[in-house]
Amino acid sequence: MKVSFNQLRLPSSGSVVIGLGYGEKFGKIGKALDKIANGLVSEALKFRKFKGKAGELLEVFVSSGSNLDKIVVFGLGSKENYSRKSLEEAGASLWAKLFQEELVSIILESDSVSKNSDSEIPALVASGLVLRSYNFHKYLTKQDSSKKVVLKKVLFSVSFPAKSRGLYRKLEHINNGVFLTRDLVNEPANILNPSQFARKVKGLSGNGLRVSVIGKAEMSRLGMNALLGVAKGSAQPPKTVIFEWNGGKKSQKKIAFVGKGVCFDSGGISIKPSQGMWDMKWDMGGAAVVAGLMKSLAERKTKANVIGIVGLVENMPDGAAQRPGDIVKSADGQTIEVLNTDAEGRLVLADILWYVQKRFKPSHIIDLATLTGAVVVALSKYYAGLFANDNELADQLISVGEDLGERLWRLPMGSEYDKLINSKIADMKNIGGRNAGAITAAQFLKRFVKNDVKWAHIDIAGVTWTDVDSKLHPSGATGYGVRLLNSFVEKYYEKNRI
Ligand code: BES
Ligand code: MN
Ligand code: ZN
Repeated sequence: MKVSFNQLRLPSSGSVVIGLGYGEKFGKIGKALDKIANGLVSEALKFRKFKGKAGELLEVFVSSGSNLDKIVVFGLGSKENYSRKSLEEAGASLWAKLFQEELVSIILESDSVSKNSDSEIPALVASGLVLRSYNFHKYLTKQDSSKKVVLKKVLFSVSFPAKSRGLYRKLEHINNGVFLTRDLVNEPANILNPSQFARKVKGLSGNGLRVSVIGKAEMSRLGMNALLGVAKGSAQPPKTVIFEWNGGKKSQKKIAFVGKGVCFDSGGISIKPSQGMWDMKWDMGGAAVVAGLMKSLAERKTKANVIGIVGLVENMPDGAAQRPGDIVKSADGQTIEVLNTDAEGRLVLADILWYVQKRFKPSHIIDLATLTGAVVVALSKYYAGLFANDNELADQLISVGEDLGERLWRLPMGSEYDKLINSKIADMKNIGGRNAGAITAAQFLKRFVKNDVKWAHIDIAGVTWTDVDSKLHPSGATGYGVRLLNSFVEKYYEKNRI
């Protein structure tokens, strides 16, 4: 959707939206609109006791004597509570009222948005509306006319258009990354297998972003047998994709983002129940976040040195598949007893973690994975599970997530949990038993992270997908993680130049 920012003026046609902060009154344009509507807007505001709470909506149809179709008033909430989350959600709330309109003007003129320093507010409202406008309708060959999207562009009418436009640009780059992530996650596994995923993201190469792909032969030469063991039962060959963005100074340290990319997780020989197995098309959610993140970091020319890396496999059962009880040797030499072929994500990540440390020596690693059902039991879809070997890194991620509404809850790690994955005949086993499943998975990953690397693991199994429409996205892929990690990089890597 196209968004433009213009100087404040009274629109002459189409539908008009006007924002009001909590307890605020109309400015010049609001009053003029009310006049055009013969006072209907102010009457409706009174009658409905409209306060201007965030997300509050009121719709008035303009009958005759004007080219305006309808007037929508929406609440921005109270200024003290403005945040990235509250403003993006206020913008997103408009989608339901506007998606079948042809021409929409959004006026932001009230006291709380009229100063130069308030220019970010229209940009955030626009960003929220755009985030909510996403859909994945490409496979619908007939569409219900009541659901068809008509709206293609929105004109914002604001006090400082140039400044709002500038701030919006950055958000637009971030949202482009979110959309890529959602597209990858929504795509079914017959279309998006490891090769197709790799081919698609290879297309992001250019303008300073390097994307390279390693195939099965090279991974085999490198000894990445933990990852390869997972891929053995599939007709689809595995791929590793590496993204390199060097937007910082040479002296700046590298941060690496690692993603689990299981394009379909049937469980393998430890096969999953058929009910709900379809959800496992989005078991590449971590890899999709890394791809979307790298796209937005490159688009907004981030001043940081960032590596992205994803391990792409399909976990299937067949005659060549790995068996429960198999022992594999990971690339860093540690041996793993594979007691459950459905605990495959950690096997993939073990070798990817080894590769990224050996080749790039990052000072920080953040991995994302739809790793365990246990984290969903613990936190549902309201928080992602966070594990870290560094308190500062954990606190930074948590605080960024609170601001923009992609929340994280830290879970403990420790030697008691680590012991649960000791094996009698190999260095470790790939499951820790019924208890603390999200934690034993994290302990497994930790065994593949060098002690001097600051590391965080984000278990996104609960937050990657939703079966119901939400504030900033329709049902399906959420895109969780792209906005979070963009802000994290911006706040702690670009500014401080670590
Ligand atoms: N991909 C799943 C985890 C998952 C579950 C993601 C639900 C999203 C929604 C993972 O590979 C898995 O199967 N984990 C097992 C681990 C167990 C065998 C130790 C699980 O959580 O049941
Ligand atoms: Mn699994
Ligand atoms: Zn999985």
